[in-house]
Amino acid sequence: MWKEVEPAPADAILGLTEIFKKDSNPQKVNLGVGVYKDDQGSTPILKCIKTAEKRLVETQKTKGYLPISGDPSYAANVQKLLFGAESEVISSNRAMTIHSPGGTGALRVGADLLKQFNPDAKLWVSSPTWANHKGIFSAAKFEIKDYPYYNSETKDVDFDAMRATLESIPAGDIVLLHVCCHNPTGVDLSDAQWDQVVSIAKSKGWIPFLDFAYQGFGSSIEKDRSAVEKFAATGVDLFIASSFSKNLGLYNERTGALTMVSPTASEATVAMSHLKKIIRVNYSNPPAHGGLAASAVLSDSALYDQWVEEVAEMRERIKAMRTKLVDGLVERGVEGDFSFIKSQRGMFSFSGLSDETVEWLRENKSIYVVKGGRINLAGLTSSNMDYVCDSIAEALKA
Ligand SMILES: Cc1ncc(COP(=O)(O)O)c(C=O)c1O
Repeated sequence: MWKEVEPAPADAILGLTEIFKKDSNPQKVNLGVGVYKDDQGSTPILKCIKTAEKRLVETQKTKGYLPISGDPSYAANVQKLLFGAESEVISSNRAMTIHSPGGTGALRVGADLLKQFNPDAKLWVSSPTWANHKGIFSAAKFEIKDYPYYNSETKDVDFDAMRATLESIPAGDIVLLHVCCHNPTGVDLSDAQWDQVVSIAKSKGWIPFLDFAYQGFGSSIEKDRSAVEKFAATGVDLFIASSFSKNLGLYNERTGALTMVSPTASEATVAMSHLKKIIRVNYSNPPAHGGLAASAVLSDSALYDQWVEEVAEMRERIKAMRTKLVDGLVERGVEGDFSFIKSQRGMFSFSGLSDETVEWLRENKSIYVVKGGRINLAGLTSSNMDYVCDSIAEALKA
């Protein structure tokens, strides 16, 4: 069956990690994959999760299936996190949430639902965007279009161009927006710019699909959700894919959520009924462990407070690495201004390193950066910082 078939290319990001694992250079550094590392270079299990898991193991009585939409308390906790506990969206039952296998699963089942009821719609993504966005929506048979986002000259959002395109998008099309910590650029919209985007969505009638994979990695858990609150308040149909992979460190537990907000509670119920049908024929119901552990943290005030601190620790460590990298390059007399890296947010930075430099770093220094120059700042540590700065300086001088 496979004799005449060409192998598929490896995933641009996960494929790089496979090559990294095989690299025998003891100084190798992985700045590719979007996984948080602590200063010792490990991806820790958060303390709040460890405690929650212990409790789960002690009290759990069954491994019976969860409902198609996941544990109801998980959905309720996710909604509080997305909108704030007092939100009108929650009290009016306009939001419906399912536990999805990661943020990726949320994007995919949301895409499938939208395709079913809006078959002619196009999907609009920022230029650039996380590579898997295009993969997921293409797999769901969407035609994909770009809206301008990043200006490589100013190292900032090209908001005028973005707004002009958003104003031209027809009603019914879907616009994917990164709520915070834009992947791969690290540049986000300001509050005032979000206000404009929200009002364009409302007046033009396109459907916002918010990707919220980094809540807490920008400014704080509460501040980072500001765009979600703004959209939810408009009363338009809205999709939100959220994920606990990064902020609760639950990468391999596949713990995400799709939340659909509708103008009325009865519409939300209809949307949910169809979403469940899509899930049933896809993965039937979600894996339980991550969702139950997340829910245990979110519903216990002591564990929640501990989580807030642990997220702040991750956020602040990444910020410190940004500063050290920029200062390290300045100290080494590297040409060019890299100070923009300090003001970007989240795990990633569009470093401005060319594909040629990226290749040189991998071949000569075993430093792995994604093609396009995206660096995961969380892969930097006090131990590898000098090596990385020296290597980038050498690469740029070469
Ligand atoms: C922008 C963005 N969206 C969604 C995801 C989905 O993450 P996961 O499926 O691991 O929860 C990621 C993960 O890297 C991401 O960067």
